[in-house]
Amino acid sequence: MVEMGVLEDSGTIQYSKGLEGVIAALSSISAIDGKQGKLIYRGIPIEMLAKYSTYEETAYLLLYGELPTKSQLEEFSRQMRELRYLPKKVEECLKELPPNPHPMDILKVAVAHTALYDPDRLSCCREGVMRKVIRLIAQIPTMIAYYHRVRTGQEIVPPHPDLGHAANFLYMLHGKEPDEEEARIFDVALILHAEHGLNASTFAAMVTASTLSDINSAIVSAIGTLKGPLHGGANERVLQMLDEIGTPDRAEEYVLNALKEKRRIMGFGHRVYKTYDPRARILKEYAEYLSEKYGDRRWISIGEKIEEVMIRELGKKGIFPNVDFYSGIVYHFLGIPRDLFTPVFAMARSVGWAAHVCEYVQNNRIFRPRAYYIGPDYVEYVPIEQRR
Ligand SMILES: CC(C)(COP(=O)(O)OP(=O)(O)OC[C@H]1O[C@@H](n2cnc3c(N)ncnc32)[C@H](O)[C@@H]1OP(=O)(O)O)[C@@H](O)C(=O)NCCC(=O)NCCS
Repeated sequence: MVEMGVLEDSGTIQYSKGLEGVIAALSSISAIDGKQGKLIYRGIPIEMLAKYSTYEETAYLLLYGELPTKSQLEEFSRQMRELRYLPKKVEECLKELPPNPHPMDILKVAVAHTALYDPDRLSCCREGVMRKVIRLIAQIPTMIAYYHRVRTGQEIVPPHPDLGHAANFLYMLHGKEPDEEEARIFDVALILHAEHGLNASTFAAMVTASTLSDINSAIVSAIGTLKGPLHGGANERVLQMLDEIGTPDRAEEYVLNALKEKRRIMGFGHRVYKTYDPRARILKEYAEYLSEKYGDRRWISIGEKIEEVMIRELGKKGIFPNVDFYSGIVYHFLGIPRDLFTPVFAMARSVGWAAHVCEYVQNNRIFRPRAYYIGPDYVEYVPIEQRR
């Protein structure tokens, strides 16, 4: 690269495509060991949280920095339950929206619309911002479930005041209380998706918030970013791929062809993990369990064959299953429609987005990277009549 006149500073220029390896913030929320395949939230290993915690407790941990006491958790859960309801106008608007856009686009609209009625909209004190955050985390599942009920011509099911976050979502979606075991599996899936450092959507939220814009705008930025197939949109595409493959005996040929044609296998690879994603390990166990429970091993057997071939072919390059590979199979057995997989990811990740925004703005500096100019140094302006 040749340095052009527009770059005013003459110090060493560092360029990292996709910001790989760039440290953009200090954080005490979570850490990933990409070599060992470890993930901790506020120091606690993800495996412990998956075993012992609930989404509500994990959300508290991520937002406030430590596990809640019994009374703090009760109060936090009570607040979450109370704040689940949507403003009437938003509920009505969801009924008017077209039935076929991707639900992630609907979620963007619903979050932006709900923000207009937020009683703490203008508040910027810590308590007000926290109420906004908790309200958002509580309302996103309602937005997703309501829209799904409306688009499928079913009555909306209001939140159930006695159910926890995960069980209540399945209840609002299906119109009946889930069995305890399935509610727990979904709860664990939400815990595993709740936070993951400065991934693209969290960074998008932080960039928006760093301009001192509001938390709702930051979450809208994050939702738009999560939608992409290289990020949260991968889970939905994994099941499309399993469908396309059809049977386990066709998996090897499919993968080898895809790799030959330089196509990506969704649900594999990660910027940080160069080994098995610890979240994928836990989700794989649940995918196995549910496949056995329902006597339908179609998806899991294709998935395991893909995994075997991918690790054989690309394991040495550090390409392993990521969180999105087995989550789709789990969601399928929980009766969640495919195009809601990414909205469900957003529902879980909303807490990670909010935690990072709250942490960053406490010691805020606007994000403003630079681009290295590689265009021409000088071009004459040619009047339009003379252009050919
Ligand atoms: C997640 C992801 C975007 C990370 O991208 P990244 O850190 O920029 O990695 P790169 O795109 O530079 O990939 C590095 C190498 O691995 C290969 N690779 C990465 N993921 C791959 C995949 N899923 N399938 C096939 N090859 C893959 C790339 O082709 C590249 O090969 P090359 O060095 O021969 O060019 C990428 O792994 C991917 O596209 N995965 C599929 C989508 C997905 O599952 N996303 C969810 C992430 S949680």
